[in-house]
Amino acid sequence: MRAAVMRANKAPLELEEVRIDDPGPGEVLVRTAASGICHSDLHVIEGHLPVPPPCILGHEPAGVVEAVGPGVADFAPGDHVIGCITSWCGVCKFCTEGRPYLCPTQYTGRPGGSRPRLASPGGDPIGQFANLSSFAEKMLCPERSLVKIRDDMPLDRASLIGCGVTTGLGAALNTVHIPAGASAVIVGCGGVGLAAIQGARIVGASRIIAVDAQPWKFDLARKLGATDCIDATAGDPVAAVQALTGGGADFAFECIGLVPTVQQTLAMTGRGGTAVLVGVVPITELVPISAADLVLQEKKVTGSYMGSNRFRFDMPRYVDFYLDGRLLLDEMISSRIALEEVNEAFDRMRKGEAARQVIVFD
Ligand SMILES: NC(=O)c1ccc[n+]([C@@H]2O[C@H](COP(=O)([O-])OP(=O)(O)OC[C@H]3O[C@@H](n4cnc5c(N)ncnc54)[C@H](O)[C@@H]3O)[C@@H](O)[C@H]2O)c1
Ligand SMILES: [Zn+2]
Ligand SMILES: [Zn+2]
Repeated sequence: MRAAVMRANKAPLELEEVRIDDPGPGEVLVRTAASGICHSDLHVIEGHLPVPPPCILGHEPAGVVEAVGPGVADFAPGDHVIGCITSWCGVCKFCTEGRPYLCPTQYTGRPGGSRPRLASPGGDPIGQFANLSSFAEKMLCPERSLVKIRDDMPLDRASLIGCGVTTGLGAALNTVHIPAGASAVIVGCGGVGLAAIQGARIVGASRIIAVDAQPWKFDLARKLGATDCIDATAGDPVAAVQALTGGGADFAFECIGLVPTVQQTLAMTGRGGTAVLVGVVPITELVPISAADLVLQEKKVTGSYMGSNRFRFDMPRYVDFYLDGRLLLDEMISSRIALEEVNEAFDRMRKGEAARQVIVFD
């Protein structure tokens, strides 16, 4: 099969012929129909998230089951599925208490020392990213990385739910509980931030303020639910949010992953409010914050990982949200591209020229 392989950090992905294994026990072979491109893939390419090359990136997929291995009961050939990076072990403290997205076991479903799922034609192993590797025509996944969805859900739009939408929507729906009428500010209007805006709208936030450095995104942000938009490059975005909210928002979501924007997000959070950190700051960087500010104004700060999902439960619900008109996905897709254009897509992401870009396979 054809795949885009990361052979080195900070270098273009290489289009290669790759060998994919047959499904073993508990594994599912999926024909990739579409894969969204998430900034976390770019973080890996840039070396901000440690994943060793060679590796096939891509972790926002939807596709169709081609074959299943022994013991697979939940899937059959022809099923439409979404893939998610938070596969779960099912027995640890986090899985059993209902927070499987925090499962620390790095469950792969294939015992260490087994044949690699992915390899070059000569047999050299190629790493699989997060049990998925969707920048490829096929994926071989543990069944616990997949969820079956309705057949009437278009697969290109379904792919967005695999990461960005689940992350942004879930930050607003699962990680925190926004009371109807509360105010929310979303810093960063990429795939993740645009989904957080929709989450705030769906739960009935009153004022939904979108902040971005690319003012062309504001028409889109408004369509998805933003009531106000602030250009971060024109004046002080913190002062602008404070002016709109009378001192700061009840909930503030950082959906970029930069030290200065995390600091701005904390400053945009009002007294008694909650800052939700969704963007991934490079792991080598620390963010200085005012502890006194948190104490004296009783502000809360929380991280939000993968929208605090239980994806077998959440994703079919998000599909229903799309099909009943509450979740807008068509608008979020700024381009559909071929696998061969993946490097150009990352260039557009670096320049902030895209909303969500989706690779569509034949
Ligand atoms: N927490 C999680 O589980 C999780 C999951 C997926 C993605 N992420 C992270 O979320 C972040 C966003 O991902 P994405 O795919 O939406 O990215 P993206 O590149 O599509 O969007 C980022 C947005 O931030 C804007 N921006 C950049 N610098 C800015 C600044 N200084 N001020 C204002 N706006 C600015 C860009 O114009 C763009 O609209 C990334 O860090 C990604 O790794 C986290
Ligand atoms: Zn992602
Ligand atoms: Zn677990």
